[in-house]
Amino acid sequence: MNGRAWTMRDLDAIAAMEEECFSDPWSRRMLAESFLSDRFFGVILEENGEPVAYGGITVVADEAEIQLVAVSEMYRRCGRGKLVVEDLLEIARERGAVRVFLEVRVSNAPAQMLYLGSGFRGLYCRTRYYPDGEDAIVMVKELA
Ligand SMILES: CC(C)(COP(=O)(O)OP(=O)(O)OC[C@H]1O[C@@H](n2cnc3c(N)ncnc32)[C@H](O)[C@@H]1OP(=O)(O)O)[C@@H](O)C(=O)NCCC(=O)NCCS
Repeated sequence: MNGRAWTMRDLDAIAAMEEECFSDPWSRRMLAESFLSDRFFGVILEENGEPVAYGGITVVADEAEIQLVAVSEMYRRCGRGKLVVEDLLEIARERGAVRVFLEVRVSNAPAQMLYLGSGFRGLYCRTRYYPDGEDAIVMVKELA
C-alpha cells in the first residue's frame, strides 16, 4: 500500500478536500457513514504528516466500485492520483473482486487520463447521471 486506511480522525481533512475538489462533494455525514459499512474501504496519502490525497472503494462479492479519488490541488501531477488508484485496486484484489467499475464526468479529462493509464476502459455513457445534468462515462478494469 502507498497510503493507509483512513480513520475517523481524517474526516475533517477529507471533508475539506472534498469541498476543494468537487462541485458535488460528499458531506461529512456521508464520509462518517462509510465507517458503518464493512464493504467500504478508504485510503489516504500523506505528505509531511498532512493528508493530501484519498480514495474510497466498495467491494461486493466479485465486483468493486471506486467511489472517490482526489488529490489536493497543489499536490497534483506528481503521481499521487495513480498511487491512490493502485491502492484501491490492491484492496479490491485482496477482497476477491475480479472487476472494478467507476463513473467519471464526461468533462473530467484529467481523471479519464488517469483511469485509462491505470488500465480502465470506457464501457458506456450514463445520461444526466450527475445532479447538475452532466453525463457520466462508466469505466471498467478486469483484474488479472
Ligand atoms: C484526477 C486527479 C485525481 C489526478 O490526480 P494527480 O495526482 O494529478 O494524477 P497523477 O499525477 O497521478 O497523474 C496520473 C496520470 O493521469 C493523467 N493526468 C492527471 N492529471 C492530468 C491533467 N491535468 N491533464 C491531463 N492528464 C492528466 C496523466 O495521464 C497522468 O500520467 P502522466 O503524469 O504520466 O502524464 C486530480 O486531478 C483530482 O483530484 N481532480 C479533482 C477530483 C477528481 O476529479 N477526481 C476524480 C473523480 S472521477
